[in-house]
Amino acid sequence: MSFLNKLRLVLSLGQGINSLTHGLIEAEAGFDPLHLFGEWFGHAQASGVALPEAMTLATASKDGAPSARIVLLKSFDHRGFIFYTNYDSRKCRDLEENPHAALICHWIVLQRQVRIEGTVERTNQEEAAAYFRSRPRGSQIGAWASTQSAPLDNYDHLVLKAKEWEQKFKGRDVPLPPFWGGYVVRPLRIEFWQGRANRLHDRLVYERDGSGWKITRLNP
Ligand SMILES: Cc1cc2nc3c(=O)[nH]c(=O)nc-3n(C[C@H](O)[C@H](O)[C@H](O)COP(=O)(O)O)c2cc1C
Repeated sequence: MSFLNKLRLVLSLGQGINSLTHGLIEAEAGFDPLHLFGEWFGHAQASGVALPEAMTLATASKDGAPSARIVLLKSFDHRGFIFYTNYDSRKCRDLEENPHAALICHWIVLQRQVRIEGTVERTNQEEAAAYFRSRPRGSQIGAWASTQSAPLDNYDHLVLKAKEWEQKFKGRDVPLPPFWGGYVVRPLRIEFWQGRANRLHDRLVYERDGSGWKITRLNP
């Protein structure tokens, strides 16, 4: 079966599932988009889809030029959506100059997309250190070895740097690099998109309104 046919199969399967449900209804979606996100994320985890926590992060330079890449959603709570990265990377140069970001989660087998837009701020270093400690040692060493987004002469140089850091931290815990940590994306707008038959999809947008949220349904 061709890749395109497989994709069609997945999409039609999703439509079949959705036709058994009644889509995304305001009364069931509730007033709190973070609660709804939690439900959808739980469904994505339960669906068996690979890396449900992978999301696109879009940033823009101070001149407004956009760029996007995948990062992993490591947690979310009342503050917003948290990912970890190298603070000297290109994305972070953007975020320091222009502290606005957009995130996309896409769970294809569920025919769902969540679009998040908001402002960013760094997590505190205790929180970043706690997450860093939970990572495999190889990833911790890799974080020290990589000057993320800077040019690299050749791959062997990176491997050599990793070996040097491994030696340096031999016999002890790998500490949090000072140039590494998290960002919280504090949402101002969250859109939930549920695919439905005949392109009559659901789109519910939550926009910050004082301490609550204004909910609007959009045409698909
Ligand atoms: C599945 C996947 C997960 C990734 N997770 C992260 C992540 O959590 N943090 C991160 O900094 N980069 C992650 N990356 C790498 C980024 O996509 C990107 O290459 C890197 O962060 C450098 O981006 P920048 O030059 O725009 O800063 C991931 C890539 C993929 C494909």
